[in-house]
Amino acid sequence: MKRNPSLFPVIGLVVVLIIALGAAFWLWRAGDSTLARGEAGQSGQSSGSGKVVIGGPFSLTDQTGKQVTQADYAGKYMLIYFGFTFCPDVCPTELQVMSGALSALGEEAAKIQPIFITVDPDRDTPEVMARYVKQFDPRLIGLSGTAAETANIARKYRVYYEKVKDPDSSADYSMDHSSLIYLMGPDGGFLTFFPPGTSPEKMAAKIKSLM
Ligand code: NI
Repeated sequence: MKRNPSLFPVIGLVVVLIIALGAAFWLWRAGDSTLARGEAGQSGQSSGSGKVVIGGPFSLTDQTGKQVTQADYAGKYMLIYFGFTFCPDVCPTELQVMSGALSALGEEAAKIQPIFITVDPDRDTPEVMARYVKQFDPRLIGLSGTAAETANIARKYRVYYEKVKDPDSSADYSMDHSSLIYLMGPDGGFLTFFPPGTSPEKMAAKIKSLM
């Protein structure tokens, strides 16, 4: 039997897509410090046939103190951002973009659960998260976890975060973290991500096109 040669370009394309996505994450993993790059790349790539595995089961605590898992949001799109409440500007900016995108989506936004997940659970207790998330959007949920729970979801979403000394701040430390907004489907599967600098309008349009 002869092999079908038409498969080879397809395999090549898949490999190129995987490498491109990996490169994109590499570029953005330094997080806040790369904001100056702005929209250097595309506004994310669809996993399409599910070649790229991002996301998965998690166990965290919401801002009311309730234990939650991914099953609590099944049936809804999840718009997820990882950061920390002491973040001086990047996290607030991105959360405002999320809120703006939801406003731009109007009634369609009811299908979306916006979620902020802290990478600094030592300081971001559920009480701190409750005060923080309501500044941005009444629909925004703030999730925190133990060190192990945080490491688990960060690994599954390929999120980089690290405690760093911050001599310019009154706080003991700051957090370096990657700064991507993830859109997950109602089945929990990865749909796309948005890099820093994405406008609310562009985010809303992309979300709508994927719904
Ligand atoms: Ni931040």
